[in-house]
Amino acid sequence: MRRFLTGLVAGSLLALAAPSLANPRSDYLMHCAGCHLVDASGVPPDVPSLSGPLGRIVASAEGRDYIARVPGAAQAPLSDDELAAVLNWLLLEYNRDTLPENFEPLRGAEVARSRANVLADPQKLRNQLWPDAYASGAQR
Ligand code: HEC
Repeated sequence: MRRFLTGLVAGSLLALAAPSLANPRSDYLMHCAGCHLVDASGVPPDVPSLSGPLGRIVASAEGRDYIARVPGAAQAPLSDDELAAVLNWLLLEYNRDTLPENFEPLRGAEVARSRANVLADPQKLRNQLWPDAYASGAQR
């Protein structure tokens, strides 16, 4: 019985420790879903959807840079590798249909360079780079 209990305790400790190791989904839920919602659909027009449009955005170098420069991403209390993992997870989980075929996952070092340059006015850059991308009115 005692051995069983020890095993149980060790097992629960492992389960508790696991999310902090590398779990982009729980990082997303903890740091992003409060605004972008659990299914990444956002609250347009105020909070953009992260489900669909991101695949097209990362087709360009500017877009890869942009998604780590928006304040919500850049300033999240996540390491560069963790933020890269959250963004890659979002792209593969919710943007597979729009993702370029040759998409290369973001790397921590790349995200580090981007997020260091946090956008003061994300909306402005977004409208410059993708003037027609959100013409549907689904995004602000
Ligand atoms: C406090 C609310 C909030 C949180 C938390 C937040 N965001 Fe955002 N996010 C926004 C808003 C609002 C925008 C629109 C641009 C702006 O005004 O910053 C945005 C824009 C974005 C964009 C650009 C989308 C586009 O289509 O232009 C990405 C990518 C993004 N967020 C990712 C994240 C990630 C990843 C996290 C978690 C690490 C996160 N955000 C956390 C509110 C938030």
